[in-house]
Amino acid sequence: MAAFALSLLFAGILAATASAGNFYDSFDITWGDGRASIFEAGQLLTCTLDKISGSGFQSKKEYLFGKIDMQLKLVAGNSAGTVTAYYLSSKGEQWDEIDFEFLGNVTGQPYVLHTNVFTQGKGNREMQFYLWFDPTADFHTYTVLWNPLNIMFMVDGILIRVFKNHEAEGVAYPKSQPMRIYSSLWDADDWATQGGRVKIDWSNAPFSASYRNFNDGDSCGRTDVWSWPVPCNPGSDSWMWTTPSSDQFGQMKWVQDHYMIYNYCSDFQRFPQGMPPECSLN
Ligand SMILES: *[C@@H]1O[C@H](CO)[C@@H](O)[C@H](O)[C@H]1NC(C)=O
Repeated sequence: MAAFALSLLFAGILAATASAGNFYDSFDITWGDGRASIFEAGQLLTCTLDKISGSGFQSKKEYLFGKIDMQLKLVAGNSAGTVTAYYLSSKGEQWDEIDFEFLGNVTGQPYVLHTNVFTQGKGNREMQFYLWFDPTADFHTYTVLWNPLNIMFMVDGILIRVFKNHEAEGVAYPKSQPMRIYSSLWDADDWATQGGRVKIDWSNAPFSASYRNFNDGDSCGRTDVWSWPVPCNPGSDSWMWTTPSSDQFGQMKWVQDHYMIYNYCSDFQRFPQGMPPECSLN
């Protein structure tokens, strides 16, 4: 009985280690000259920003589809002018990109969660949201589910945005260029907060954002050279062919009705030549 309990305990420990990705194993700190660091035996990463530099990191793996979770806790207090970017991107001039960007604000005013999708070097698909919680008070989970059918953006498991594969209707879709995960904390006070009117107050520096519980367990990710087809084992929950359930669509409608502050598909003045084609497709 005791041995059985003990083996269960060990199984539990192994499972926990496997699911909470280790930052040392999964990421390289790529800039900031020591301003980004990994702590707690690889369980916590922080990026900082001061007047001299921001900082950032990137994944060791490249992914061609995946369900990727990261928990972030954003710059607290007066974060105006700071941006914490968390995104997936491929390389080259025809790159694909899936973006979460968090635009800071003065104390007590809401962060903006800015999202975008680039296909073959073309973006202009911004959707922006307020959050229904204070993203600086605690860690929250931001998920990109990217598969051949759609890209789903989720916050604490709640769907906020979907970009569907409309290749059949002539809209480019990211499906052949592997992407890395990138994140950085940087000075964007020329545009980020209230349209660039509010600047960084450097008396609050250094600013700091934290990351934990990275999980790329359900992903096609590789550190070596790519070959096609990608050897990939999508696991049991078939994330590879997931599309939103009607419950998820309901949640997304709730978020978009209550928290969305900008949608490129509603910005008729911006596209006088005609709206992007995906805007009129379902
Ligand atoms: C900052 O707060 C102002 C005032 O509430 C708001 O209009 C704006 O959307 C907020 N976020 C950013 C990033 O400017």
